[in-house]
Amino acid sequence: MKTSKKSLYSLSYFLLSLLLLHRITTVHSIGVNYGTLGNNLPPPAQVARFLKEKTNIDRIKIFDVNHDIITAFANTSIFVTVTVPNGDIPSLTDIRTARRWVSTNIKPFYPATKFRYIAVGNEILHWGPQNVIDNLVPAMQTLHKALIMSGIRDVKVTTPHSLGILESSNPPSSGKFRPGWDVGVLKPMLQFLQETKSPFMVNPYPYFAWAPQQEDFCLFRNNPGMIDPVTNKKYTNMWDQLLDAVYMGMVRLGYGNVEIVAAETGWPSLGEPFLKHVNPTNAAAYNGGLVRRVDFGTPLMPKRKIETYIFGLFNENEKPGSIAEQNFGLFRPDFTPVYEAGVLRTGPVPNPQPQPKPNPQPQPTPKPATPVGSAKELIANPFRPVVLVLIQIALGLMRSSS
Ligand SMILES: *[C@@H]1O[C@H](CO)[C@@H](O)[C@H](O)[C@H]1NC(C)=O
Repeated sequence: MKTSKKSLYSLSYFLLSLLLLHRITTVHSIGVNYGTLGNNLPPPAQVARFLKEKTNIDRIKIFDVNHDIITAFANTSIFVTVTVPNGDIPSLTDIRTARRWVSTNIKPFYPATKFRYIAVGNEILHWGPQNVIDNLVPAMQTLHKALIMSGIRDVKVTTPHSLGILESSNPPSSGKFRPGWDVGVLKPMLQFLQETKSPFMVNPYPYFAWAPQQEDFCLFRNNPGMIDPVTNKKYTNMWDQLLDAVYMGMVRLGYGNVEIVAAETGWPSLGEPFLKHVNPTNAAAYNGGLVRRVDFGTPLMPKRKIETYIFGLFNENEKPGSIAEQNFGLFRPDFTPVYEAGVLRTGPVPNPQPQPKPNPQPQPTPKPATPVGSAKELIANPFRPVVLVLIQIALGLMRSSS
C-alpha cells in the first residue's frame, strides 16, 4: 500500500514536470521594435493594451524617447527600451546635459514604466558621422553616470550595431570586428558594458544576406546545414551563424562573457515584385522560426537565451525607402496579424471582445489574416493531447486509490 502511494506521488510529480515543461516549451516571450513612421497607427494606449492582453510580446523598443509611448506602457509589466537620437550624442558627453536628459526623459516615468535599456543612437558605427562615432562611448559612460546620480541603477546603457561591424562572419569561428573599430571603439565599449553588466546589442538580418541557394538556411527550414571546420559545430540556420560570428568577435577582444541582445531582426511580408523571397509565407517562416529558436542559444552559446526584438510591430506606410521597408510589420495598424508568427496568445483570452479598429481604411493585404483557433493550436502543440490524457489517467488513479 505504502509503495503504491509513493509511486502514485512520483507519477503525479512526473506528470506535473511534464506539464511545466510543456508550458515552458510553448510560451516564448519575445520583444518587438515599435516604430511609428505611419499616418494610420493606433494610439499608444491601445497598443499597450493589445500587446498585454493578446500577445506574448513582453518588451518593446522604440526609436526615440516618445513620452506618450513611455506613459502608455506604465504599469503594464512590458519592458521599454528607448533610443537616444543620434544627434544628441555629442552633447551627452557633458554630465550636466546628461543629467538633464535623464530628468526629462526617464525620471518622471520611472519606475511605473519598466525601462530596460537606453540605446544610445542606432547603428552609429555604420552610418556615422565621425564626430558622433568619436563621442559614442564617452556619451554612454556619462549617461550611465547620470542615471546612477539620479538613483536609477536598473536601467542599462548600450547601443545597437549593424553587422557591418564584422569583417568576416563565415564560418562563424572566423568572426572578427573590422580593424580600426575593433580596438578603437568596440574594445572600450565592451569594457564599459562588462563593468556595467549591460549587453552588446546587434541587429542581425539574415534577410539582407538572402541568396536563392540559401533560402532554407535563412528561413529556419530543413536544410543540410554547414559544419564550421574550426569548431566542428553544425549550423542549420543563418541566425546562429551570425550571432556566433559576433560572439567570436567579442571573444577575440576578450569579452566573450558580455551578453548579446538582438535589438532588431525581421523579414518583410511584401516588397517590390522582383523580390521573390519577400512574401507572407517567408516572413512567417523567419519570424516564427525565430520565436521558437531564441530560448535555445546557439552552437557556441548553448546556455544563453538571446533576448530578441523583432522588427517590427506594425507595417509603417511612411517609412522612407522601398515597399519592403514599409512592410516588416507583424501587424497591420488595425491590429490584425499580417501572418501567424507565434506571438499571439492562443490560450483563453481574458477579453474576448474584438479589438477596436481605429482605422477602417483598407491596408494592402497580401493575404487574409490567419485565424487563430484551437485547431491551429493543436497542430502547433502536438504534445497537448498527450499531456491531457496523462493527467486524466493520473486523476483516475488518485480517485481509485482513495
Ligand atoms: C501607475 O500606477 C501608479 C500606482 O498605482 C499610479 O500612481 C500611477 O498614476 C500609474 N501611472 C500611470 C501613467 O498610469
